[in-house]
Amino acid sequence: MTIIAEPMHARPRSPEHLAGLFAGGWPEFIFHDQQTKRHIGRIRDLFGDLELVLLDDGVPVAAGWAVPLCWNGETDDLPAGYNDSLARALADHDAGRTPDTHAVLAAQVHPGRQGEGLAARLLTALCDDAASRGRGRVICPVRPTHKSRYPLTPIERYQHWTRPDGLPFDPWLRTHVRMGARILAAAPRSQVITGTVAQWQTWTGLTFPDSGDYVIPDGLSPLHIDHRTDTGTYAEPNTWLRHR
Ligand SMILES: CC(C)(COP(=O)(O)OP(=O)(O)OC[C@H]1O[C@@H](n2cnc3c(N)ncnc32)[C@H](O)[C@@H]1OP(=O)(O)O)[C@@H](O)C(=O)NCCC(=O)NCCS
Repeated sequence: MTIIAEPMHARPRSPEHLAGLFAGGWPEFIFHDQQTKRHIGRIRDLFGDLELVLLDDGVPVAAGWAVPLCWNGETDDLPAGYNDSLARALADHDAGRTPDTHAVLAAQVHPGRQGEGLAARLLTALCDDAASRGRGRVICPVRPTHKSRYPLTPIERYQHWTRPDGLPFDPWLRTHVRMGARILAAAPRSQVITGTVAQWQTWTGLTFPDSGDYVIPDGLSPLHIDHRTDTGTYAEPNTWLRHR
C-alpha cells in the first residue's frame, strides 16, 4: 500500500469516500457543543490548510486537523482543552501574534482501517507539517478511546493507568506515547456541552426521569441532569499530550 499525506483541501474529494472515512466514532452529543459552533466557521476559514488527509492509493483512510496558537511551553499556560484551543487560536490570530505551537484537535481513521497504525502515520504527518511551518511544539487534547468504559474514574487517575509493560492502559494514549509523546496534564473540562433534558434524551437515546448524574453511552464522564432548570450538562475530559 502507498500511503501519502496531503492537505485535505488541496483538491476535491469524493463525497462517498469522505462519508466512509467519517462514518461513526463520535457520540451525537459531541456535535451539539455551542462553544465549538461559535468558533468553528472562522477556524475552518482561517486554518483549513492545517487539515491533512492520508490517502491509500488515492482513497482517504485517515484525517486530522490542527490550529496554530501561542503557548509558552509550561503546563499552567495550556489551554483548558479543545474549545479553549479554538478560542486561543482565534485570539492570537486577531491580535497578530505569531503562533509557535500546533494543537492537534482531531484525528479520525477509517472505521475499516483502525488498528493498523494509520493514526501514528497521521500524527507524524501533522507533526512534520507543524515543523515545516516553523512551529516546534505539537500538543493534543486527546479523547482517550476507552475512557467511556470508566466514566466514573477521574481523568487525572485514568490517564496514568498503565499496563504491565509500562505503556498507557488506554489504546489511543498508548499510540501517542509509543511515538514519544508525553502526558502533560488533565483537561477535565475540554468541552462543556449543555442542552435541555429533551435534547439530551434525543442525543443519548436514554430517558432521564429524575435530576442527578447519569452514565451515558460513549460519555467519558457522567451527564448531570437538573429538571428544575431543564438542563443537562456534560464536561468532556481529555488528556493533554506533547509530541517531540
Ligand atoms: C482513535 C483512532 C484515531 C486510533 O486510530 P488507529 O489507527 O486505530 O490507531 P492504532 O492503529 O494506533 O491503534 C491504537 C490501539 O487501538 C487498537 N485498535 C484500534 N482499533 C482497533 C480495532 N478496530 N480492533 C482492534 N484493535 C484496535 C490497536 O490494536 C492499538 O492497540 P495496541 O497499542 O495494543 O496495538 C481511531 O480509533 C478513530 O478514528 N476513532 C474514532 C475517532 C476518535 O475517537 N478519534 C480520537 C479522538 S481525537
